[in-house]
Amino acid sequence: MRQLFGRLDFSFSVCVVFLCLSLYGSVSGSYVKYNTGGGIVEGKLNVHLVPHSHDDVGWLKTIDQYYVGSNNSIQGACVENVLDSVVESLLRDPNRKFVFAEMAFFTRWWVEQSVETQETVRKLVDSGQLEFINGGWCMHDEATCHYIDMIDQTTLGHRFIKEQFNYIPRAGWQIDPFGHSAVQAYLLGAELGFDSVHFARIDYQDRAKRKNEKSLEVIWRGSKTFGSSSQIFTNAFPVHYSPPSGFHFEVNGDYVPIQLQDNLLLYDYNVEKRVNDFINNATFQANVTRTNHIMWTMGDDFQYQYAESWFKQMDKFIHYVNKCQLLNISYCPPTEEDTPEGKSLVVVAYNPLGWNRTDIIKIPVNDANLVVQDSSGNTIEAQYVALDNVTANLRIFYTKAYLGQSSKQIPKYWLLFQASVPPLGWNTYFISNASGKGIWEIRNGFLSTMDTTQNGTIEIGPGNLKMSFSSTSGQLKRIYNTKTGVDVPTQQSYLWYASSPGDAVPQVCNIYAGLEVIMTGFSDTIVILSLLQASGAYIFRPSGPPNIQFDMLQVPLKVIRGPLVDEVLQQFNSWIYQVTRLYRDKEHAEVEFTIGPIPVDDSVGKEVIMRMTTNMVTNKVFYTDSNGRDFLERIRDYRADWPLSVNQPVAGNYYPLNLGIYTRDNKSELSVLVDRATGGASIEDGEIELMLHRRTIYDDSRGVGEALDESVCVDESCEGLTVRGNYYVSINQLGAGARWRRTTGQEVYSPLLLAFTHEKLEDWKASHLTKATAIDPNYSLPLNVALITLQELDDGSVLLRLAHLYEVGEDAEYSTLANVDLKKIFTGKTIKEVKEMSLSTNQEKSEMKRMTWRVEGDSRKEPNPIRGGPINNSTLVELGPMEIRTFLLKF
Ligand SMILES: *[C@@H]1O[C@H](CO)[C@@H](O)[C@H](O)[C@H]1NC(C)=O
Ligand SMILES: *[C@@H]1O[C@H](CO)[C@@H](O)[C@H](O)[C@H]1NC(C)=O
Ligand SMILES: *[C@@H]1O[C@H](CO)[C@@H](O)[C@H](O)[C@H]1NC(C)=O
Ligand SMILES: *[C@@H]1O[C@H](CO)[C@@H](O)[C@H](O)[C@H]1NC(C)=O
Ligand SMILES: *[C@@H]1O[C@H](CO)[C@@H](O)[C@H](O)[C@H]1NC(C)=O
Ligand SMILES: *[C@@H]1O[C@H](CO)[C@@H](O)[C@H](O)[C@H]1NC(C)=O
Ligand SMILES: *[C@@H]1O[C@H](CO)[C@@H](O)[C@H](O)[C@H]1NC(C)=O
Ligand SMILES: *[C@@H]1O[C@H](CO)[C@@H](O)[C@H](O)[C@H]1NC(C)=O
Ligand SMILES: *[C@@H]1O[C@H](CO)[C@@H](O)[C@H](O)[C@H]1NC(C)=O
Repeated sequence: MRQLFGRLDFSFSVCVVFLCLSLYGSVSGSYVKYNTGGGIVEGKLNVHLVPHSHDDVGWLKTIDQYYVGSNNSIQGACVENVLDSVVESLLRDPNRKFVFAEMAFFTRWWVEQSVETQETVRKLVDSGQLEFINGGWCMHDEATCHYIDMIDQTTLGHRFIKEQFNYIPRAGWQIDPFGHSAVQAYLLGAELGFDSVHFARIDYQDRAKRKNEKSLEVIWRGSKTFGSSSQIFTNAFPVHYSPPSGFHFEVNGDYVPIQLQDNLLLYDYNVEKRVNDFINNATFQANVTRTNHIMWTMGDDFQYQYAESWFKQMDKFIHYVNKCQLLNISYCPPTEEDTPEGKSLVVVAYNPLGWNRTDIIKIPVNDANLVVQDSSGNTIEAQYVALDNVTANLRIFYTKAYLGQSSKQIPKYWLLFQASVPPLGWNTYFISNASGKGIWEIRNGFLSTMDTTQNGTIEIGPGNLKMSFSSTSGQLKRIYNTKTGVDVPTQQSYLWYASSPGDAVPQVCNIYAGLEVIMTGFSDTIVILSLLQASGAYIFRPSGPPNIQFDMLQVPLKVIRGPLVDEVLQQFNSWIYQVTRLYRDKEHAEVEFTIGPIPVDDSVGKEVIMRMTTNMVTNKVFYTDSNGRDFLERIRDYRADWPLSVNQPVAGNYYPLNLGIYTRDNKSELSVLVDRATGGASIEDGEIELMLHRRTIYDDSRGVGEALDESVCVDESCEGLTVRGNYYVSINQLGAGARWRRTTGQEVYSPLLLAFTHEKLEDWKASHLTKATAIDPNYSLPLNVALITLQELDDGSVLLRLAHLYEVGEDAEYSTLANVDLKKIFTGKTIKEVKEMSLSTNQEKSEMKRMTWRVEGDSRKEPNPIRGGPINNSTLVELGPMEIRTFLLKF
């Protein structure tokens, strides 16, 4: 069994037939020249074998450990061996092919090769034996990444491939992400110039129906805005990205003998049997796919370590990626140290957005006698908020745990002041010691006051947005905006789902409950384990509705007020703490949560949510983002593509959030944005919930081999993790929420970047530009456009990407054609050349090839998306709704 065909070229021009092994030819222990050639035979079933090695860029081991193959006790995997041995194997037979996806590994290997080996590999690429598919730095996840990061990492890989091999990947290969996003299809697929995208993992119910209907292969139109102009051929595998059962051949596989043995003199001679197995498996698969062309994905995780063995030996078990979020701590010595005599603390704030921006800067300090001056020398308003005990204790614990040291002191205050920073520019603030200096007699700082109101309703918010709390229960009662008149009675609570420990008695109807993925066909073990499916790192499976164990009727609450911000501090229980901040100049609430360590001493895993409950009539509908870009309509207990049987009323309605979630009724919108990828849902009408922290006590049998129960230790004492993060809440009139979501979403994704030093104010001013912008000082990007990439490349040219932030119909004013003048962005420079490129900049936009498809049932009545015109001989870039345009500029 020799023939390997690597092409994922769905014109079917270079693929190969693979049935009937030279009529069961047999040998008797001497050299055989196998006929490995082949081609498409119309009218026959054509099995395309696609050898691949799925090499996670860091999973159970680090990327370094995977590359060199160290720490093999964790996982026997060495990508260096894969590449070394694949190249050897390809050279042995020009009919062999191999596809490789992860440039993070390939580039490492490449730079270590001799000039001769590099030359050889270039030939293998030229001849199509070695093909780069996907070609990003890694195979990114699709649930929990932001689209800008997806573009950046793909660009890094694609540019390497273009530079070294002058080759443009044509196939999307997202075989391992756990679910697939619309943005992947229309943006990281069609807009890269891919012909197709291929993946393994889809909802088990969806897969069953598609197999039945032969609709695993579809034309996917992922964008409401672009419709058929950004469609892509999409192929979901019938089972997984491994070969059919019995066709794994990794060198260290230890399953029953499945090698094809063609030496008649040997006991294991089995040519007939294996050929029959092959044909049976192929016809079985062809029965669920559309055409007489089927693909076998001949490989698996970190396979081909000894590539030759793939003709002989079995595969090994597989494992998958998990990512998890670490707490980030504020440990910020420069701002906390005493300022040397005569010097100031210099704070430079850089604004990566293309708009003017006003934001609160918040730094830990030790002194409340400070004066904050802006770059023009004006003293500006400052507010001090005493550091709360929860933060102080967290800081002590985590600096000890991660840095092995205790900070010398705990800062006493947060110092807050408002910074105004020009687009793509910076501003400088000087913080000086006012103690004992006559000129600073009048402090400009406001030491926040603690509100002692004990009765009735407490209203907070120095600006338009207000929240009211019950002083008796400590509970949020209402959010309203005095400017827009929007008023939403709202409750907020923290709850937890008990993690399912798995079913004590296996029940057939529960086999795959709660799974987005099925992995049948690997071994019996996994099927048995999935009967017991526990909640864990991969699987969210609650035992039932969420619990409120703590006394929600009485949440201790403290209120802190000041000119810039009001804060409400709430201790929901001993391990859930929250601070709600309403800023004078912001139309939203910023909510900081601190959760953990989650207690599991009762042997119950817990998955902690924040839930907001309103009286909004939302009719099962809510909206979540796709990779931070499009918002997709979600309908509870419903899938557009198949009649859903609801086995998991909670988990089955959860969606990944990267930007946020919102609901609306006929008057208002309630939106929540997140600062990290989280899960979110609306399990009852009028509700929004976010999954903020999880700790489980059982492994979910999906590959990590441990419970989601990480701990952090100081000396010998360990505890579960504590997470701290923010989410942002806004209420808007119906139709007005998009503006807040889009603008604030950019601010959350690209916060002000701060840099600190100690220097004499006059010296700093004399030697530095204190406030400036890199663009024309009278220019800023329109509010519906973001600059998402600005990068100087090695050859001195500049890569620029602009993204329109609105979908068609999302906002009356902003879902329109926008204009950007490149001359004003690169002011003071002469633009000699502007070339529009594909999304990953590996080809000119005008040269991108696109396949045309006849789509069954196509109404052909789609509206034409608005796209910007070509920028021939001009520097004016137009962007239609959701359009991303990529340029290479020379100066
Ligand atoms: C990996 O191997 C190194 C060297 O033997 C060892 O120091 C380290 O503890 C190992 N890491 C893990 C996670 O086992
Ligand atoms: C596929 O081949 C294996 C042996 O490798 C055999 O056990 C299995 O029944 C076959 N599957 C089908 C669907 O024919
Ligand atoms: C093909 O699928 C149909 C419908 O599911 C089934 O009845 C038939 O047995 C299948 N044929 C093969 C060869 O698997
Ligand atoms: C915290 O965040 C900063 C900036 O994003 C990062 O450099 C640092 O490594 C993070 N620290 C931890 C402990 O994750
Ligand atoms: C400010 O000056 C006072 C008096 O000299 C000193 O005690 C204090 O530590 C100084 N504060 C800072 C932040 O340097
Ligand atoms: C911190 O705790 C101490 C004693 O436990 C208390 O006196 C103090 O008021 C607390 N500080 C804050 C900001 O809550
Ligand atoms: C609370 O309000 C009630 C009725 O308005 C009043 O009688 C009572 O004195 C108030 N208590 C406090 C502590 O203000
Ligand atoms: C940005 O803000 C500055 C200062 O507030 C102002 O002078 C400038 O005109 C603003 N620029 C734009 C493009 O609005
Ligand atoms: C661009 O300018 C060049 C030289 O000025 C001219 O030859 C060319 O026709 C122009 N192209 C377009 C599309 O206007």
